[in-house]
Amino acid sequence: MKEVLMNPEAEAPAVHYYMIRGGKDKTNITVWECGKVGDEYIKTYGHYHVGDISETYSIIQGEGILLLQKRKIDADGQTIDDEIGSFQAKKVKAGDKIFIEPSLGHLIVNTGNIWLVTSDDSPVYPEDVDPVGLPGHADYLAVQKMGGFAYFVVENGGVPTLLKNPKYKVVPEAEIE
Ligand SMILES: [Fe+2]
Repeated sequence: MKEVLMNPEAEAPAVHYYMIRGGKDKTNITVWECGKVGDEYIKTYGHYHVGDISETYSIIQGEGILLLQKRKIDADGQTIDDEIGSFQAKKVKAGDKIFIEPSLGHLIVNTGNIWLVTSDDSPVYPEDVDPVGLPGHADYLAVQKMGGFAYFVVENGGVPTLLKNPKYKVVPEAEIE
């Protein structure tokens, strides 16, 4: 996680989140630790999907903030990792069902006092080299090289607040919805 944290040197839990991958049929379960790393709330790594794969998350318990970001496209139709065309930060809570379009990079931040737990239906391909750690449908490297998403979610006076990641060249203004 260090490479995507706002403050990689801050004290952090050994594991930020746990996943049990069952794939599209059995679903995947994710459990977030609670708390912060420095001022930044515990989050998942964040990734883009490779190809035309959408995903639906169900929030089973807890509350958090879902970050969605869409990269700009260059003249050749290639995504530009450091230029973001749209960014959304949405509060989510137990009972919510969230549909994520294929082109949207996504992560969820745990802003609550209990473990955040979700289930999702993204595919797992057993033939991948590392189907659990690095499933083939997900691109983590585009996030890794930018040091995280375009905004970090940090605590400011007890309230979750967005803070821009200075490594991105183009980032639209955003607020938590
Ligand atoms: Fe995903």
